[in-house]
Amino acid sequence: MDRKQFLSLIGGGAATVALFSCTGCSKSSQGPGNNNQGTITGPTGIDFTLDLTASANSALLANGGYLASNGVLVARTNAGVYIAVQQSCTHQNYPLIYNGASDEFFCNNHGSAFSDKGVVLNSPANRNLVVYNTTLSGTSLRVYS
Ligand code: FES
Repeated sequence: MDRKQFLSLIGGGAATVALFSCTGCSKSSQGPGNNNQGTITGPTGIDFTLDLTASANSALLANGGYLASNGVLVARTNAGVYIAVQQSCTHQNYPLIYNGASDEFFCNNHGSAFSDKGVVLNSPANRNLVVYNTTLSGTSLRVYS
């Protein structure tokens, strides 16, 4: 390999890396910052079970605790009831948190709030959250569509 071939190879490699890097940094239609307000929805076909004895799920042992799994925010209300909604805000797709003190889901990005039933309480979000079913059997919490 002569110098010209080597430089050509390096240049092609760098261009290839740059192409892949730019592909990776483009804003996804489903990623945070999505401006398709009103079209952002939760995942479909949800059906998973959380083992409440596992340390990774220990947040759900206390009232007001929550965690995110499979695109779903699972919370335990102050009344001890398990609820589950889509993890992403319907405004611009940022991850929500659960505020146990008020039993509301909240988006720190622009301040939207949702009730424990997923209903919009505070804009700019204008679409309710997708709500999932929960069933507790012993220490197994099933979350499903
Ligand atoms: S992303 Fe704007 S309020 Fe949630």
